[in-house]
Amino acid sequence: MAAKVKPLRDPNTLSNYNHFITAHTTANFDIQFDKRILVGNVVHQLKSLTNSESKEIILDSSYLDIKDVKVNGQLSKWQLLPRQEPYGNGLKISLDKGVPPGEIAEVEISLQTTKECTALQWLTPAQTSNQKHPYMFSQCQAIHARSIFPCQDTPDVKATFDFNIKSPLPVVASGLPVKDDAGSTSNGLYRFRQKVPIPSYLFAIASGDIADASIGPRSRVATSPEKLEECKWELEADTEKFMQAIDKIIYPYVWGEYNILVLPPSFPYGGMENPVFTFATPSLISKDRQNVDVIAHELSHSWSGNLVTNGSWEHFWLNEGWTTYLERRVRLFISEHGEAYRHFSAIIGWKALADSVERFGADHEFTKLIVDLKGKDPDDAFSSIPYEKGFNFLFHLEHLIGKDKFDRFIPHYFTEFKEKSLDSFEFKSCMIDFFQSDPEATEKLSSLDWDRWFYGPGLPPKPDFDTSLVDAVYELARKWETLGKSSFSPSLSDVEGLTANQLVVFLEQILLWEQSLPVEQSKLLGQVYRLAESSNVEVTNLYYQVGLRAGDESVAEPTSILLGSIGRMKFVRPLYRALEKFNRDTAIATFQKHKDFYHPICRGMVEKDLFGSKANP
Ligand code: BES
Ligand code: ZN
Repeated sequence: MAAKVKPLRDPNTLSNYNHFITAHTTANFDIQFDKRILVGNVVHQLKSLTNSESKEIILDSSYLDIKDVKVNGQLSKWQLLPRQEPYGNGLKISLDKGVPPGEIAEVEISLQTTKECTALQWLTPAQTSNQKHPYMFSQCQAIHARSIFPCQDTPDVKATFDFNIKSPLPVVASGLPVKDDAGSTSNGLYRFRQKVPIPSYLFAIASGDIADASIGPRSRVATSPEKLEECKWELEADTEKFMQAIDKIIYPYVWGEYNILVLPPSFPYGGMENPVFTFATPSLISKDRQNVDVIAHELSHSWSGNLVTNGSWEHFWLNEGWTTYLERRVRLFISEHGEAYRHFSAIIGWKALADSVERFGADHEFTKLIVDLKGKDPDDAFSSIPYEKGFNFLFHLEHLIGKDKFDRFIPHYFTEFKEKSLDSFEFKSCMIDFFQSDPEATEKLSSLDWDRWFYGPGLPPKPDFDTSLVDAVYELARKWETLGKSSFSPSLSDVEGLTANQLVVFLEQILLWEQSLPVEQSKLLGQVYRLAESSNVEVTNLYYQVGLRAGDESVAEPTSILLGSIGRMKFVRPLYRALEKFNRDTAIATFQKHKDFYHPICRGMVEKDLFGSKANP
């Protein structure tokens, strides 16, 4: 009799993780820069969940060149199932006999990656900052780990990891370094261990001309040697402060070190919360310490996401909404403005949320907190919605229950689901159970329309944000609206004392107007406020959008240069959209020129935006 098999809650994996689950993975890879591939093998300890009748293991794989498969040391029968877009090929491994429940099958797969690999980017020396050495890095979230090695590529399964990586250049990974007896790394073999179980999407490696420096008692920054000093300056003031703040809000950091790898400019995200080593865009290094919210965010993932994980990408808000909530709590500790700063960030977030809702359409499936991803690619559903609707949900709960009570729930939640994965329904029952002995909170929670929050499309109710940090900026935007019709005459003093993020809000206001700015005024704006000179891409990219919208020819060239120097999708995608509206031929020509510079994920997204049928925010 077969034991009861749980149905799978993750629709984005082909693996049969209801029969076996990965307990430990060892990844042995040789980084071959000349061929742009990883060559080696991966060894999974797969624990049987059912009884001896379970004679088949199916793993996710995508664009891999598989050589052979051994089960418990013996060559085994295997087969790649037909490709199923967007999930890749199931790798079916047939066992001679079943594995009793609780017992381990050791599966060793020899393979190499291919040119089609979606998780790795290989850079020529010319694409790095000092142009001396090649570089490679991985980006596995959401479902790209399967294009590095066959695995149960689902956030619902967690395993410990060993990394044995050979490279002619220094290597960074999402584990703590294991030193040999002499305390060093030898013969180009870099070893790491991740003792905390992690899902496959947190597997990460990078290799290149990388040096590192201390930015705090438990933290280092790693980057290209000649960029080290400026990266250190940007990050050393705040990283440990953030860590101390969140250690208190939840409980102490469990991963040993919190390090940051500042990548070459084609890194497609602002940051990626790889354990032990956050991967970050170099656009963070803006020489004004104004983009450290990204660090507050990625650090917060060390609890939400990395320890307590969404059970499938349909519940992605549990990762990103919680992280955005924590980011804004943590960020308060370095702000002079206290709670008003949290509201300031939330107002910026609301704008991003409203933009995403508008772009998808207010009834769209992807505007819900819980999304249906059956047959879909989670990358296509990606937007600000899980971040900001998720944040607003938690912010609403905090206000509903009261901050003191909510603060007591936070460590409870992160203890309850530590090293586990969960869905929104488990979150709901965890909260209801926690407040069971509190009639007042229970009453409030039972009057909450949970389903509307979970399944209602479009915008949630807008909270009453404290606007004190945006009022001055809104006022300035209003003055620009009446420019020429009032006595307002712009001067640099208008923006002196504003932070880069306040300038962001100002420029976003202008982009919100139904009418674009007249081209002469747009030029004036750039000149008087010296916007194009800002070292902060958050500011320059918005100024270029304002200019393009106004039809200012003079920003087309700098936009194209920017698009060839930064591959972060947050900037690249809106800039291509703006450039396309300005002049489609210019947008296409710019893309053709820079497409090899972009990461495969970014390239694919821009291709969809420019040429595909369906664009998403
Ligand atoms: N985990 C995300 C990045 C991500 C999401 C990669 C989905 C692949 C698929 C990361 O934590 C993130 O949210 N980064 C933001 C930073 C920001 C919100 C402060 C980014 O990249 O802009
Ligand atoms: Zn995040």
